Amino acid sequence: MGCAISGSGLTPRTPEIRSTEDAEAPARLTPRHIHLIKESWKVIQEDIAKVGIIMFVRLFETHPECKDVFFLFRDVEDLERLRTSRELRAHGLRVMSFIEKSVARLDQLERLQTLALELGKSHYRYNAPPKYYGYVGAEFICAVQPILKERWTAELEQAWKTLFQFITGIMKDGYLEEEKTKRNLMLTSTRERPDKRNTMI
Ligand code: HEM
Repeated sequence: MGCAISGSGLTPRTPEIRSTEDAEAPARLTPRHIHLIKESWKVIQEDIAKVGIIMFVRLFETHPECKDVFFLFRDVEDLERLRTSRELRAHGLRVMSFIEKSVARLDQLERLQTLALELGKSHYRYNAPPKYYGYVGAEFICAVQPILKERWTAELEQAWKTLFQFITGIMKDGYLEEEKTKRNLMLTSTRERPDKRNTMI
């Protein structure tokens, strides 16, 4: 299970609920990062199903609380069984396809931003809070290191960390935006309720 990631970098330090005022600046992806990510993706791409499974089994091993968010996996005790689960394979592939789309949008970061914002909003609906997002990048790095073997370098690791920080930072913003929208909707409907009661009488 062990995997050495230099520095922590990907473990979220921000509290689950942030106000828009203390929103962090997005992680800065340099042209060099983009080049390194694209080159390594050509290799990773061949094993995306495998990476997706390894990443999620590791996530559930290191942070069992994340498993509870998944309706399909929360009752699975034996994580080894998940390695051959069709559902986990399908879920891993959905997440890896998102990474693939992100890599394809590295030259149009505003399009990647839109994609990640929507993903954050959908994660509010899945009840998957931002405090967990940072773990995924760390597990992704551990899963791809053995595939890239000697091609793995500290610089490449930093590039992938930055991409995950970029994506998850925006996902958090999307989550918070959706949370605010839902809260306002609830407030509005609570305020409207007395009127509704009047019409019932
Ligand atoms: C870098 C972080 C993450 C990425 C890129 C990511 C990506 C995705 C994608 C692409 C989907 C497919 C559905 C959709 O597009 O809305 C999805 C679904 C989902 N994710 Fe995530 N996710 C991340 C982190 C997490 C974490 C940490 C959790 C839970 C602790 C989580 C829980 C879920 C759940 C419950 C679903 C819906 C169930 C399903 O599709 O099978 N996600 N995620």
